[in-house]
Amino acid sequence: MNAAPDLAAAEAVEAAAPELLRVEGLSVSLPGGVALVDGVSLTIHRGERVALVGESGSGKSVTAQAVLRLNDRLRIDGRVMLDGRDILSLSEREMAGVRGGRIGLAFQDAMVCLDPIMTVGDQIEESLRIRGVGRAEARRRAIAILTELGVHDAADRLGSYVHEFSGGMRQRVVLAMALVAQPDLLIADEPTTALDVRVQRQVLDLLDQFAANHALSVLLITHDMGIVASFADRVVVMYSGRIVEDASVFDLFERPLHPYTQGLLAAIPRVDRSQDELAAVPGSPVPPALRPSGCAFHPRCAKATEVCRTEVPPLETMGGRRVACHHPATDGVHAV
Ligand SMILES: Nc1ncnc2c1ncn2[C@@H]1O[C@H](COP(=O)(O)OP(=O)(O)OP(=O)(O)O)[C@@H](O)[C@H]1O
Ligand SMILES: [Mg+2]
Repeated sequence: MNAAPDLAAAEAVEAAAPELLRVEGLSVSLPGGVALVDGVSLTIHRGERVALVGESGSGKSVTAQAVLRLNDRLRIDGRVMLDGRDILSLSEREMAGVRGGRIGLAFQDAMVCLDPIMTVGDQIEESLRIRGVGRAEARRRAIAILTELGVHDAADRLGSYVHEFSGGMRQRVVLAMALVAQPDLLIADEPTTALDVRVQRQVLDLLDQFAANHALSVLLITHDMGIVASFADRVVVMYSGRIVEDASVFDLFERPLHPYTQGLLAAIPRVDRSQDELAAVPGSPVPPALRPSGCAFHPRCAKATEVCRTEVPPLETMGGRRVACHHPATDGVHAV
């Protein structure tokens, strides 16, 4: 794990590494027209780790699924550029090559991703076999990836079934399936939420090491700001289907600009604060169909004024970061 959010390192990644994924104006709507995700734009550079955070229902999973066109009954607009090519316009066959190939996917609940009646080895090897890799080579790579993910007797465990595995081991299998075809980007949707804290830390450490060794880009969806601080280079904050803030981990924790981000950070439990003093963002999120006019956060925001009720604040670049707020906490940050 990174010892602390490192501003210089984060900026170095941004400056030096080329763009890998650029999402532009991505909207995902229900057949009736309600936007679950409304005009999301974000960029992930090579080797960069971006955390996507926000309360339940803010559109994190829908965004991740739309990048891979997994939510096929929803309408998707906008562009998803992978190495400069819009993958939303690929044929279904080409898209199948991207999923699990260029972009690996790992989801929260291992038991949903894993097949109880297939051996662990067959499941990990499947994504290689469908890409034409021979049986022996696929087995060799499955053993190598599991070993790298800390499974010591990988060759012996490949014939096992998932019910014979502990939670932490199952999550390693999910990661092995996502990573075995050597993707450039891993999208991990709350990959460790179902695990206890100690095992969660182990799995994240393994992923951290793996990502560093392979210069893997990661889009990590999580509720846990502690995980964000130790794992990510940059944080994208979503509220009600829109991005409200995007900043390096250092900048975000040091000086959150959006009142919602300030609330999220204030809600982090701290050892020096008793349970009674725990702050939380007051109020609760509303479903997309009931999204308020203007800034969707305005009914919960202490700083809200008339303009917040009527106009959606644009996501503006300020001092190398982005924020969508009519009254951001701009102390010391100059608009560019
Ligand atoms: N297929 C779908 N049909 C209708 N509504 C959906 C669909 N998928 C998601 N939603 C709605 O879209 C909104 C965003 O959902 P999403 O799953 O992306 O939230 P999330 O940020 O991932 O939340 P969580 O932290 O709980 O996983 C929610 O209001 C959800 O109910
Ligand atoms: Mg989700």
